[in-house]
Amino acid sequence: MGKIWVTGGNGQLGLQLRAMTAGNKDWLFTDLPEIDICDAAACRAWVTEQRIRTIVHCAAYTAVDRAESEPETVYRVNTQATLQLARIALENQANLVFISTDYVFEGNLNRPCLESDPCAPLSVYGRSKREAETGIQQIGVRGITLRTSWLYSAYGNNFVKTMLRLADERPALQVVSDQIGSPTHAKDLAQAIIDILPQLDTKPFFGEIFHFSNEGTCSWYDLAKATLELAGKTCPVHPITTAQYPTAAARPMHSVLSKEKIRKTFGVKTPQWQESLAELLQTLAQ
Ligand SMILES: NC(=O)c1ccc[n+]([C@@H]2O[C@H](COP(=O)([O-])OP(=O)(O)OC[C@H]3O[C@@H](n4cnc5c(N)ncnc54)[C@H](OP(=O)(O)O)[C@@H]3O)[C@@H](O)[C@H]2O)c1
Repeated sequence: MGKIWVTGGNGQLGLQLRAMTAGNKDWLFTDLPEIDICDAAACRAWVTEQRIRTIVHCAAYTAVDRAESEPETVYRVNTQATLQLARIALENQANLVFISTDYVFEGNLNRPCLESDPCAPLSVYGRSKREAETGIQQIGVRGITLRTSWLYSAYGNNFVKTMLRLADERPALQVVSDQIGSPTHAKDLAQAIIDILPQLDTKPFFGEIFHFSNEGTCSWYDLAKATLELAGKTCPVHPITTAQYPTAAARPMHSVLSKEKIRKTFGVKTPQWQESLAELLQTLAQ
């Protein structure tokens, strides 16, 4: 399989992959300031010198609301740098695994979104990722795009950790109950990536899109409530509507991802979201 380079190595998914591949010298991790993914010369030199065979591209501008006010930076990081990495991978006969998002969807389907469903992102962040997805396919680099949704983990900042903190700080929480999606424990996504990589040598894909999240659906309110219940916190949670919680970036109202294709193609596991959430809370409690 050769050497694997993970960009965004200090982000949620990057740190999760680090933890799960600790001791394996084939896995190399970088983040800012070591290698800026916008620095094409630095990325090219690194891939060539290290003889990288696969780039797992997790680095991104992920502040979805802030993205609305600085679109140039967002496109530079999420689109242009990603396409530059795709060209570098192609030049070096390496695979590119690009992590994308459910925010490429408008969210108007009342069924799980298939990889083949039309995209109509509502935000700068979603558009920047969608342009990267299509650009990667045009470049024709080997590898896949993995769309995921509502990522949480023991690492970094995420919704689950924010709810745990706010429950200790506030008398009650108000959480949006009309946006429906599928949460993803970064541990399950990282395991899927680890399981898929060896298969990319025998199953050649060229920017083919696959969905990965935990199984089942919920609202942000359901996720908050389940988190506090599992953590034994008594802080009450009240449902509110999206209209009652205005944000700079619009989000899809229904962006549940169908996982049938990734399960059939690579045989990866997609555990139920409640089981994976319970596992995370056990980890955090240790
Ligand atoms: N979080 C979610 O709910 C979610 C949902 C769907 C898809 N995704 C996608 O999944 C992937 C992993 O997400 P995550 O939650 O692990 O993100 P994250 O925690 O925000 O990590 C992203 C990492 O990329 C780094 N980065 C940003 N700009 C960079 C640059 N120019 N050069 C090098 N590194 C740079 C960030 O550094 P700084 O912190 O210093 O900026 C950060 O360490 C991302 O591609 C994201 O778009 C996330």
